[in-house]
Amino acid sequence: MQPTSPQLTALKAALFAACLWPLAQLGWLAWTDGLGANPIEFITRHLGTWTLSFLLITLAVTPLRHLSGWHWLIRLRRMLGLYAFFYAALHFLTYLWLDQFFDLASIVKDIAKRPFITAGFTAFLLLIPLAATSNAAMVKRLGGRRWTQLHRSVYAIAIIGVVHYWWLVKKDITLPLLYAVLLGALLGFRALRLARERQRQLSTYL
Ligand code: HEM
Repeated sequence: MQPTSPQLTALKAALFAACLWPLAQLGWLAWTDGLGANPIEFITRHLGTWTLSFLLITLAVTPLRHLSGWHWLIRLRRMLGLYAFFYAALHFLTYLWLDQFFDLASIVKDIAKRPFITAGFTAFLLLIPLAATSNAAMVKRLGGRRWTQLHRSVYAIAIIGVVHYWWLVKKDITLPLLYAVLLGALLGFRALRLARERQRQLSTYL
């Protein structure tokens, strides 16, 4: 299956709108008084969950592409990655604004003191260069090889994101565990392909 150029444009527009769903959901719940007894916690958690989900959805593109043979899926990856950054920025902003009231001293102390905040902050910092170099002009400027090397940090970011989640839950680890298993499967797929590729190269060389 290979969509035509107009079909791909329509698909991208539909995906762009669909990715705004978590934000629209928050807006609707805020409007209808549905954010619960602790709205700040609800908003922070909702945005955090979606940040991690978008990171995993972005990482799922390559395996899906290889398994299905739909190589055009790669054309959707940048948008998904940028949405991960968008939700991470909103998640961080909620923390800075609604949780910490932009109190810089308290934020610095919190980042240094609470390991799960340190992890979240690290993941967010690491996401910035990826978002900043996501366009075609930056790929050209950095060169394909350096760009790819830089963007491999998304694996570390996703791992740190899961650790951040794992460390913040107090009792029930079901959800962080689920994210860890999904991430393990996505990274495992890549490791397996890499190992196979290396073996093939070695056997043609020998
Ligand atoms: C890539 C970066 C990040 C990812 C993937 C991420 C992911 C998450 C996830 C999955 C949750 C739990 C949601 C739930 O309970 O359903 C969460 C909660 C939270 N995150 Fe993040 N986060 C990131 C960055 C940050 C940053 C930069 C900060 C602040 C410096 C932060 C602060 C928090 C706080 C305060 C909570 C709520 C904790 C609580 O409920 O007690 N996160 N995040």
